[in-house]
Amino acid sequence: MELSHIFWSVILVIFSILCLFLFPNVNRNKYSSSSYTADEEELRLPPGRTGFPLIGETLDYYLNTRKGFPFKFVRDRMEQFSTKIFRTSLLGHQMVILGTAEGNKFLFSNENSLFQVWWPSTADKIFPKSDNQPAQVHAKRLRGIISPLIQKVDGLRECVGIMDMVMKKHLETYWKGKDVVKARELAKKYTLALGCNVFLGINDQNEIDEIVTGMDDIEAAFFAAPINLPGTTLNCGIKASKVMRSKIETMIRHRRNLLGSEKKSIPTEILVKDFIARMLSSVDDNGQVLKDEDIASHLVGLIEVGYTYLHSTLTMLIKILAEHPCVYDSVLKEQKEIASSNHPREKLSWEDFRKMKYSWNVVCEVFRQCSPAVGGFREALTDIKYEGYTIPKGWKVHWLLHSTHNNPKYFQNPEKFDPSRFEGDGPIPYTFIPFGGGSRMCPGNEYARLAILTFLHYVLNEFKWEQIIPNEKISYFPIQTPAQGLPIRLYRHED
Ligand code: HEM
Repeated sequence: MELSHIFWSVILVIFSILCLFLFPNVNRNKYSSSSYTADEEELRLPPGRTGFPLIGETLDYYLNTRKGFPFKFVRDRMEQFSTKIFRTSLLGHQMVILGTAEGNKFLFSNENSLFQVWWPSTADKIFPKSDNQPAQVHAKRLRGIISPLIQKVDGLRECVGIMDMVMKKHLETYWKGKDVVKARELAKKYTLALGCNVFLGINDQNEIDEIVTGMDDIEAAFFAAPINLPGTTLNCGIKASKVMRSKIETMIRHRRNLLGSEKKSIPTEILVKDFIARMLSSVDDNGQVLKDEDIASHLVGLIEVGYTYLHSTLTMLIKILAEHPCVYDSVLKEQKEIASSNHPREKLSWEDFRKMKYSWNVVCEVFRQCSPAVGGFREALTDIKYEGYTIPKGWKVHWLLHSTHNNPKYFQNPEKFDPSRFEGDGPIPYTFIPFGGGSRMCPGNEYARLAILTFLHYVLNEFKWEQIIPNEKISYFPIQTPAQGLPIRLYRHED
């Protein structure tokens, strides 16, 4: 654990204990006290505990997540209180955790009627908007703008072309001719080059490096404790985001001049592939266009989320393929067949991705065992009855994918790497949720699938590899990744 983490942990505990004495009622709204009135008793709050004032059980949650056991936080409480629902207090909020597939179904099926998406306030600090409204207010509009580009076939076909071009260049520059590489660094390079190409329309490597200099600080801040003081991880990320947004704002102004901001003046063939053009031409219900600073904030957010989750997945995928030679051989067989049916200079086609069935099952098993995302949050829009308990209006609900992904009730021998779990009908609905679910499910899921399979196709057809550090320790902050960056020795296939 880093020294700064220990320091802030100690400060948090001292602060909490002080709060207990100074503000005994803080963080205890009308539903959180242990002495309920008859009416409140009738509400039947879910069983659980709320920990220290203000910080609640946040410290325990963070420490478990950083040690790689977010599921332990949940499992301990499930064993103590209930396997279906329990309450806690995290990040200064009363919170309920649902631990089963039925709970996930209930949550994801009642979006906007009972629940709405919610994010911790750190997201608003790193990606602020000009009207100071929270991220969830802006997320709906952003979804509407980007959906045709990364969720509809026409937009995705454009992305496939860019992925192919970026990956071939990446392979030539950073893999070929090398004996040893650090897989994490290369996964980062690929996902950043891709993000900058797709979202900003830039493909010059020097320009990309210049734009994304603070990306790791932004990534760390996204998962950091919510303490914004000089020198904290959050504070460094906020500063890095500011610098990056300002560079992107300059690009946006330039594009605005080139394109003109009127929707009618931007040709449809540009709107189907150009994120900046699409954002510049978007109007809300009141006819308002997005401000440049808000477009920049959205773009940094998109690049960051794609970067973080993708580089972690790709690195863990390379590690797992090195550890399971039989799985590697089967993926290679599938990828070689696809490569041999194409001309060497041809691009991967839409049809090729459909043939990558086994490869995708392997990626899904990587998502199940070492998903980069921990879960997400919702807010109760009204008093909600669930399993005989009440989730009071305004309380937050945290869903954690580890609750089902690592649960032997849903996945037999969860510690065994077994891609065949995804054959046929696959897992029970709402047990495998790497991208969340319902109408707020990750809109980048198809983009992620195509980006991962493109990477896999080109790297596998060229190389086999072995880990240089056997049993390399995994670090979980800010995101799951081998602690030394996964150095691997490359072996080129015989021609
Ligand atoms: C391996 C890759 C990825 C994983 C595992 C992942 C996972 C997730 C998860 C778990 C959520 C929360 C969903 C919920 O609360 O129900 C989410 C939300 C989101 N993701 Fe992804 N994601 C990935 C890649 C991407 C990419 C590449 C993009 C952008 C192109 C993206 C854009 C978003 C956005 C904008 C949201 C917020 C959606 C909303 O609130 O409406 N993600 N993602």
